[in-house]
Amino acid sequence: MKRVLTGIKPTAENLHLGNYFGSIKYMLEFQQSGEYDNFMFLANMHTLTQLHNSEDIKKNTLNLIRTYLASGLDPQKTTIFNPAKIPAHAQLNWVLSCVTNIGYMKRMHAYKDALAKNTEENITVGTFCYPILMAADIILYDVDYVPVGKDQKQHVEYARDIAARFNNIFKPDFFKLPNPWIQQSLATIPGIDGRKMSKSYNNYIGLFDDDKTIFKKTRAIPTASIPVQEPKNPDECNVYNILKLFLSDDEDKNIREGYEKGGLSFKEVKDLLYEKLVEFIGPIRYKSSEISDEEILNILDQGTNKAAEISSKKMLEINRLVGFDF
Ligand code: ADP
Ligand code: TRP
Repeated sequence: MKRVLTGIKPTAENLHLGNYFGSIKYMLEFQQSGEYDNFMFLANMHTLTQLHNSEDIKKNTLNLIRTYLASGLDPQKTTIFNPAKIPAHAQLNWVLSCVTNIGYMKRMHAYKDALAKNTEENITVGTFCYPILMAADIILYDVDYVPVGKDQKQHVEYARDIAARFNNIFKPDFFKLPNPWIQQSLATIPGIDGRKMSKSYNNYIGLFDDDKTIFKKTRAIPTASIPVQEPKNPDECNVYNILKLFLSDDEDKNIREGYEKGGLSFKEVKDLLYEKLVEFIGPIRYKSSEISDEEILNILDQGTNKAAEISSKKMLEINRLVGFDF
C-alpha cells in the first residue's frame, strides 16, 4: 500500500483556506479512496523556528488537531501524530545534517526568504536547517506522496535528493524517494489581497472565522473599476479566483459567462462568495467547537504510538548502517 504523509505547523490559532486546499483536502481524498496508508502530523518542531511561547504552541496545537478532525480526518483511517514525542525525528535529522552540504542548504527558498528579511547573524540555525528536519519527517516513513502547496515543493524535492544521497553512501534503495503531490489548480491559493494566502501576510480567510468576519473580508477584496455592463476577465478577478474553489462545473460556467458577457457586478460575486464561505466554514467551526481537549490528546497518543513503532524500526536500521549498533 502506498504511503502518504504531510503536516502543518501550529503557528497560529486559526488555519486558513490555503492550508485546507493545499494540504487537508488532499488528505481527505487519500483517506476517502481507502487505497493509501495515511499520516498527518503536527509540525510543532518546525514551529519552534518561529514561535518561542509554550502556551501559544500548546493552544495552537489543540486547534490544529481540532481543525483536522472537524474537516473530516478520521483517526481510524489517518494516523495523526506528534513528532516531538518520537526521538527518531531528531536523530535522523542529525544523521542527515552530516551528509548535507551548506551550499545546498543556502539554495533553499525558505532560507533565502529569511535572508531577505534579516542578516545571516540573526537567523537561527534551526531556520537554516529547517529542510533537513522536514526531510527526516518524510523519509523516516518511506513515504510515496507528500501533499503540499507549491511553496513546499522545493523542500520535498530536497527530501528526495537527500534520501538518494544517503542511499548512495550507505545502502542502495534504503530510503524510498518521496514525491510532492500538488494539483495545479490548488498549488497557490490566493489571499484577499491577491498574494499567496498566508498567516504571515494577514490576508487569509480562517477556518474558524465567524460570519461577520467572513463578510468583512469578502467585502475588502479589491476589484477593478469596470462598469457593471462591461465584459470582464474572471481570471483577473481575485473574488472569482477564491470563489472558483467552491463552484460546481455548471456554476463555474455560468459565472464565467456572466463576467465575459458583462452585467454581473462585483457585489453579486462577493455576495455569492460570502454565501459559499459561510456554507463551507460554518460546519467546520461548529464541529471543532464540539471536540474536547481530552479527545484530541487521546487521538494524538494513539497515533504517536503507531508512528513511533514504524519510525523506531527504521531508525534502528539507520543506526546500523552508519555504524551506531553498539
Ligand atoms: P502558512 O504559509 O500560512 O504559514 P504553513 O506553512 O503552515 O502555512 O502551511 C501548511 C501547508 O499548507 C503546507 O503544505 C503549505 O504548502 C500549504 N499552504 C499554505 N498556504 C497555502 C496557499 N496559499 N496555497 C496553497 N497551499 C498553501
Ligand atoms: N514545512 C511545512 C510547512 O511549512 C511543514 C512540514 C514540516 C511538513 N515537515 C513536513 C510538510 C513534512 C510535509 C511533510 O508547511
